Amino acid sequence: MSQTIQNAMVYPAAQIGGVLPHVQGDKSISHRVAMLAAISCGSSTVRNFLQSEDCLNTLKAMEALGARTFFSEDGELTIQGTGGKFIEPVSPLNLGNSGTGIRLLTGLLAGLPITTELTGDESLCSRPMGRIKEPLEKMGAKLELLGPNGCAPIRVRGGGLKGIEYSIPVASAQVKSCILLATLFAEGKTTLIETMPTRDHTERLLQTLGVPVVAKGLHVQMEGFGAEGPKLKPRSWYISGDFSSAAYAIVAVAGRPGMSVTVRNVGLNPKRTALLDVLERMGAGIDVTVRSGESEIEPFGDIRVSGAELKATEVGGDEIPRLIDELPLVAVAGALAHGKTVIRDAKELRVKESDRIATMATNLRALGVQVTELEDGMEIQGPASLETASAVRSYGDHRIAMAMTVLALYGKTPVCINNIACIDTSYPAFWDDLKLLGARVE
Ligand code: S3P
Repeated sequence: MSQTIQNAMVYPAAQIGGVLPHVQGDKSISHRVAMLAAISCGSSTVRNFLQSEDCLNTLKAMEALGARTFFSEDGELTIQGTGGKFIEPVSPLNLGNSGTGIRLLTGLLAGLPITTELTGDESLCSRPMGRIKEPLEKMGAKLELLGPNGCAPIRVRGGGLKGIEYSIPVASAQVKSCILLATLFAEGKTTLIETMPTRDHTERLLQTLGVPVVAKGLHVQMEGFGAEGPKLKPRSWYISGDFSSAAYAIVAVAGRPGMSVTVRNVGLNPKRTALLDVLERMGAGIDVTVRSGESEIEPFGDIRVSGAELKATEVGGDEIPRLIDELPLVAVAGALAHGKTVIRDAKELRVKESDRIATMATNLRALGVQVTELEDGMEIQGPASLETASAVRSYGDHRIAMAMTVLALYGKTPVCINNIACIDTSYPAFWDDLKLLGARVE
């Protein structure tokens, strides 16, 4: 992440809306496609790969492990795969800010007979890694967590894996995906049991590559290919727009009666789009047109949102994993809505790029919003008047910076968002897209 501290001044917007014709590629899928193409036997191409810091760090790691990658002038990515024969890298792999990058890659490396060290920035090195160490060691890998309190850097000595039956204690697609990638190079079958359904990109991508993954309810089963791993055929990938990025434009308009926004070609995986259900409950108009057929890897299409006077709602239970990255935006919508919005069962927010319960509560209060912090969520009393000029901090967390920008657009006076460089980890086009919709930002 860039070391220069940059701040943004966000001005109140009387009008936001229109059409976003293109959203950058999905972050979760970009990480996974980079890794799967890097173990494929030949040259894969990827259109709409997310060129954000997180995903580019994953690509750099693939290079260090022996894959070759390059972008054409029109942005198409080519990845020359290794056929699963990674070389031992000469120095630690740096995954920057990305939990998905480090956890999924550790899973993949656990299956290979090499020793690798993985690290990241200060935020990543304070996030829990015990959740992947336990299942990977049950499979036979050796993991050392070299940071304090079970955190990265991670040293992984891979190879000799066996499939496991494992109940994943936290609802985490990163943990599930880590184990599935390890199973590619394991003997025997892995059976995973989730506590709640989480995003299923890994399962879908593996199935597309011909790997027989069976997902039913909370169970996922997959047969390993043994130490040699699978012989994955290279292919052309297209990555649809990131719903989690589109969500900022959606919430920027959802609380404005009479205005609307249409976001085109966005991923509509049902395990990612619960924010739309929440906004509909709050009174916004939601109109979704699915463009892809059943045979596509991931459903995608257009979303039209009509703004309204929002009313409060409650969010919890198995809705949480389906909008985990949008919860800062749910808090923003809660600050605009009439009544008390309650977010529960979201303790995982405390171990994201920042403690998102604490950082959102602090920032909302700085803008005069009444918030009660709960151990596993928060209560937000709306509507807030947002009259006082103020400054808020990103805490180096991209989703906090972007969510607070969206709230500032609803304010009565300009708000300074401090340290915005982190936005480049997931959504480098954020400011351009907001300006396209009519925002004024300096
Ligand atoms: C992700 C899963 C989620 C999400 C993260 C991306 C993924 O994390 O918050 O931004 O790509 O699998 P958890 O699965 O740990 O909740």
